[in-house]
Amino acid sequence: MRNSVYSCNIVPLNKIHNRAGNITIVEGQNSVPFDIKRVYYLYDIPGGEDRGGHAHKELRQLIVAASGSFNVLLDDGQNKKIVTLNRPDYGLIVVPGIWRELMEFSSGSVCLVLASEVYDENDYFREYQDFKSFVNGH
Ligand code: TYD
Repeated sequence: MRNSVYSCNIVPLNKIHNRAGNITIVEGQNSVPFDIKRVYYLYDIPGGEDRGGHAHKELRQLIVAASGSFNVLLDDGQNKKIVTLNRPDYGLIVVPGIWRELMEFSSGSVCLVLASEVYDENDYFREYQDFKSFVNGH
């Protein structure tokens, strides 16, 4: 089955606000449509550096700008779209089979990723041409 960038949407997360600040809670199968098996975060990203540059075969993710902002380029082999993440109470769902590049990180930004599976290098397409061939069926 081919997935589309149009299935990768920004979803609002809950936010509990009081005078001491905010808290956002993300629960598997509730806030996101999968169990959360792994959490990782990118930080101390030098100015001008890009991250990502790969696609996953099965992995589902929620990507959150826990602090600061950055852009996510999504590409399903046919369509592309760029999403800006800049709020800790919104997240981007990325479905399997989508090439993604993370870029234009603001200084001090933190990219939080909640993932449906533990790390598995075999789940990656690291080469864009391999990804393109796979999704385009040749
Ligand atoms: P990578 O997925 O390439 O990071 P990004 O997409 O942010 O550029 O991972 C960078 C390195 O970290 C790579 O050597 C694999 C390793 N890694 C793990 O060991 N476990 C993990 O859960 C992740 C996300 C990466």
